[in-house]
Amino acid sequence: MRTLITPLATLRDRGRAMSVPQKLATAAAGAAAAALGATALEVRRRVADSDASPGSGIDLVRSVVARMTTPLLPDDYLHMINPLWSARELRGKVVEVRPETHDAATLVITPGWGFQASYQPGQYVGIGVSLDGKWHWRSYSISSAPDRAARGRGTITITVKAMPEGFMSEHLVRGLAPGTIVRLALPQGDFVLPDPPPAKLLFWTGGSGITPVMSMLRTLHRRGTMPDVVHIHAAPNRGQAIFRDERVALAGTHPTLRLVENFDDEHGILDVSKLEAACPDWRDRQTWVCGPAPMLEAAERHWESAGLGQALHLERFSAALTASAEGGHVVFAKSGREADLDGATTILEAGEAAGITMPFGCRMGICHTCVIPLKKGMVKDLRNGAEYQENQGVQTCVTAAAGDCVLEI
Ligand SMILES: Cc1cc2nc3c(=O)[nH]c(=O)nc-3n(C[C@H](O)[C@H](O)[C@H](O)COP(=O)(O)OP(=O)(O)OC[C@H]3O[C@@H](n4cnc5c(N)ncnc54)[C@H](O)[C@@H]3O)c2cc1C
Ligand code: FES
Repeated sequence: MRTLITPLATLRDRGRAMSVPQKLATAAAGAAAAALGATALEVRRRVADSDASPGSGIDLVRSVVARMTTPLLPDDYLHMINPLWSARELRGKVVEVRPETHDAATLVITPGWGFQASYQPGQYVGIGVSLDGKWHWRSYSISSAPDRAARGRGTITITVKAMPEGFMSEHLVRGLAPGTIVRLALPQGDFVLPDPPPAKLLFWTGGSGITPVMSMLRTLHRRGTMPDVVHIHAAPNRGQAIFRDERVALAGTHPTLRLVENFDDEHGILDVSKLEAACPDWRDRQTWVCGPAPMLEAAERHWESAGLGQALHLERFSAALTASAEGGHVVFAKSGREADLDGATTILEAGEAAGITMPFGCRMGICHTCVIPLKKGMVKDLRNGAEYQENQGVQTCVTAAAGDCVLEI
């Protein structure tokens, strides 16, 4: 049986064997614990006992510090030591905003505690930004390649295209100052490159849909094993083609990577009828498609009608919320918050606006991470008008109040 009390000499020995992040984490936890008048001994012991992975030690300290103190205090202390350290939430610091085209920019983010560098190429992160005193969340594909060697100490990038009248994207591209602290949600999504990759691939991307595929291309390049890849990319014109120089350079470096570019102002819109000419053996390839909704719908129909739906991987950036609901008074029962909502505001947005930490993933009705129980009343799915009654789980990212209701969060 293991003893709970570890001799100090043993702790010192273990301290010598700790990785730098573990030492930092231990010091931070010790400082927080000391500041709170609690003993740091148990924290040190558990960090020393944890495995060698920096992430696990840091996660452990987050949880121990959070449990040692009241719900409000740990972040205050950790924040004093480093604004990226939080016992409650993942954070990141935007260290650079790099223009890509006139309306797109790459944000280089240093993630704080608990962010694992082991995301898969093609996954997305949630990013929360404080604007006008409220936290606003959106999802963005990670455009960088995972850097396992950095062991959680590297950076990630997201690449954002400013949407006309887009609330968050405009701000991220044109208004975000380097140094800004943002909130992060862990990487997720199944639009990913398998490891090892298939022998023959087709990437078909349009506009900002290049971002998850850029992570895949960068990953293949870094590994130095580029399979037989055809990459068709469509953009309005050369100037708006995101990452164009890098993509051309990659195709120059790897003879097995063939780049087909379509600029709408020179070649007309690239519709699916041009696919045969661009990639005659598309039927033999595992295919990843990301771009505007009409392009995705056309690809889905085309592959399905060829009986090849299994070979097609799609990533959507938005859901069409065309239905409307009546709106109503919504009570978030466990949090003790309430709000009067119109019929276009999703329950997810309303909960966040009320200051509740709502669960979410894709924010567009795919992943089901956001499902919470509806205790009373009715909500409507804004994609299709489907109604959900009390005691059903509802996808808060695509539903709105249809009358007064109570949600169990
Ligand atoms: C998995 C995933 C990955 C993504 N990855 C990326 C990425 O890598 N890069 C990227 O740029 N985006 C990406 N997105 C999209 C991103 O999450 C945002 O949806 C996008 O940046 C727009 O956000 P916004 O706040 O600017 O627009 P919003 O303000 O939310 O508006 C969205 C759209 O609706 C329009 N709109 C807004 N208000 C109205 C209105 N009243 N009437 C009519 N139209 C209106 C806007 O013009 C805009 O086109 C991704 C989305 C998902 C789900
Ligand atoms: S957040 Fe993915 S379904 Fe709602």
